[in-house]
Amino acid sequence: MTCSILVGGAWGDEGKGKCITYLCGNDKPDIIARAGVGPNAGHSVEFNGEKYGLRLIPSGFVHTDAKLMIGAGVLVDKDVLFKEFEDLKKYGVKERTFVDPRCAIITKDHRERDKKSEHLAKKIGSTGSGCGPANSDRVLRTVKLAKDVPELEDYLADVSLETNNVLDNGGDVFIEGSQGFALSLYYGTYPFVTSKDTTASTFAADVGVGPTKVDEVINVFKAYITRVGEGPFPTEISQEEAESKNIEEYGVVTGRRRRVGLFDMELAKESCRINGATQIALTCVDRLYPDCARTQSYDDLSAETKKFIEEIQSETGVPVTIISTGPDLKDTIDLRKELL
Ligand code: GTP
Ligand code: IMP
Ligand code: MG
Repeated sequence: MTCSILVGGAWGDEGKGKCITYLCGNDKPDIIARAGVGPNAGHSVEFNGEKYGLRLIPSGFVHTDAKLMIGAGVLVDKDVLFKEFEDLKKYGVKERTFVDPRCAIITKDHRERDKKSEHLAKKIGSTGSGCGPANSDRVLRTVKLAKDVPELEDYLADVSLETNNVLDNGGDVFIEGSQGFALSLYYGTYPFVTSKDTTASTFAADVGVGPTKVDEVINVFKAYITRVGEGPFPTEISQEEAESKNIEEYGVVTGRRRRVGLFDMELAKESCRINGATQIALTCVDRLYPDCARTQSYDDLSAETKKFIEEIQSETGVPVTIISTGPDLKDTIDLRKELL
């Protein structure tokens, strides 16, 4: 029985999509459950030569024997959900996706309020997906729940009960967090944050799994940092510098150009502490150190890359178990057998 939670270590877009696809494809959990805020997320999954940008369906969908579940804490936009059912038709996603009846529903009104609000759209730089207004209505206790939406009737299941039953019977559950530590409503760069806490404890609660059931917390960092939207970013570099290093990026949901910065060790330490991280996955190592592109063995990494990884490990006290050296699932160094 293993219950793992994967979380983002910084401002989101750490490459969680690739890590989840790799881990679920290898470990084949019985249930892959989506936690986090809602469809403001954009996870990139490259699989079988195709690229998907997912906002609600768990990125672990590639493991076709798993049940896919959306936990009660996650906001559901049914248009996004049904579009993803269509986009992922060949993986039989619609037939094995379940939504907790207690999920709150995003409506057109929430999306419009998000996009029109000077505060959310302009000051905070929200994704405009309606999450902030829907979560605020949830707090006011006026929001509609999934159990009251007739189109969702066929997909409802008690996600907490299902995940706990699997764990009690010796099965494996993989919980996918979204966003990132520094976007947390409590621990992030308030007010330039998302509309709820985005740390591992909240992700467990989103799905309805208690803290005593969680075995592993995998904290994902990119070898450099990106941030979309406004707010403090201590290690930010100029777009010219990012371009010269070939680490410029654009967002999956909004298409916005991302701000780019260097790895932030202080942020990494705090993120590991508050998430209770047991492992670190480090992505896009090849973009910072091109000589490591597609490397599949730790021994073949350059001395400079190894030094960087060892420094992260010694400063945070958390083992770097997964090293991603390219977008393909094969471009992964998996040190779990050696380090855990
Ligand atoms: P999350 O929001 O954390 O899920 O990140 P994401 O998966 O959405 O990341 P993002 O939208 O930034 O997309 C990352 C892109 O980089 C995708 O096209 C991935 O396939 C790709 N990618 C992921 N890991 C690596 C890596 O180690 N090296 C390279 N070169 N690309 C990667
Ligand atoms: P909201 O969650 O759409 O209200 O956006 C609030 C802030 O969080 C904005 O700066 C967004 O760009 C950022 N944000 C929300 N979700 C993500 C994500 O999944 N990746 C990166 N940034 C995000
Ligand atoms: Mg993303």
